[in-house]
Amino acid sequence: MKPTIAPYPLTRFRRARQSQAIRGLVRENTLTVDDFIWPVFVRDGEGIEEPVPSMPGVMRRSVDLIAKAALEAQALGIPAICLFPYTDASLKTEDCAEAWNPDNLSNRAIRAVKASAPDIAVMTDVALDPYNINGHDGYVVDGEIVNDQTVEALVKMTLAQAEAGADIIGPSDMMDGRIGAMRSALEAAGHHNVMILSYAAKYASAFYGPFRDAVGASGALTGDKKTYQMDPANSNEALRLIERDLTEGADMVMIKPGMPYLDICRRVKDNFGAPTYAYQVSGEFAMIRAAAQNGWIDGEKVMLESLMAFKRAGCDGILTYFAPEAARILQG
Ligand code: PBG
Repeated sequence: MKPTIAPYPLTRFRRARQSQAIRGLVRENTLTVDDFIWPVFVRDGEGIEEPVPSMPGVMRRSVDLIAKAALEAQALGIPAICLFPYTDASLKTEDCAEAWNPDNLSNRAIRAVKASAPDIAVMTDVALDPYNINGHDGYVVDGEIVNDQTVEALVKMTLAQAEAGADIIGPSDMMDGRIGAMRSALEAAGHHNVMILSYAAKYASAFYGPFRDAVGASGALTGDKKTYQMDPANSNEALRLIERDLTEGADMVMIKPGMPYLDICRRVKDNFGAPTYAYQVSGEFAMIRAAAQNGWIDGEKVMLESLMAFKRAGCDGILTYFAPEAARILQG
């Protein structure tokens, strides 16, 4: 049923915008701190907080300071934190064995966060790139990123993260069949409540540049990720991937990057109604931050507007490096 619009001047849309009170009354979407997952970068050492040059305001933190940051995030009401390790080059190998080491940086950080901030959900990243001498998310055999062998490694990595106490596993690798393999392994190991937030529609994007600096993968990466990440020209394929991952047992799904792909967010939410998240990635963050630092835009307003856009597009939440800043504003 199409609502009828009376002709002007019976209908004046500006009546609904005349004051803050009326605008609040007719507002269709809201942004709250409940919408945020905060991605953070973990590094070795103690008492270290090191700026990421291409992401001003974002830090790499040692495990002790990650635990402290998580406690602050919990106090702000941020529901989840997502850990990304900056792995020392000496630990990157062809077999990526560090990925499922129970005491690797990421697993130590999971335990530290669970101990210091037990109410915040801990999300992880599952992909081989931080541990791979080739910088790829999967094994490289004769120049090919091989699928099935990679999935076996990702399952080991998943189990190690679940053992360490992860609440939400975040496969960002884009291999085929990994969600089903991970879900079965988690069930078999008794981790019935460990959730999977699948990076189901992840595009081969140039917006990941600053992140690869942050995790020290830029130098390592040979070639590009186009044989596993999606072609930015495609939209129907994203829906098929989301459907596939949901049928394999994903609890939640993600579209990544965020702002350039809001059309995909809307289609995914409308088609499946599943918990849907977008990742406002490093390049999106860096562009807003850089323009704000130059005085070209109002950084605070653009940040909040960009986050609201995800809600309007149907997302249930957003992975964003702005999470603590935005939370502080939203919490007054
Ligand atoms: C790697 C991974 C990437 C991001 C999250 N996990 C980069 C990539 O695929 O190369 C990007 C996040 C961001 O840009 O903020 N598995």
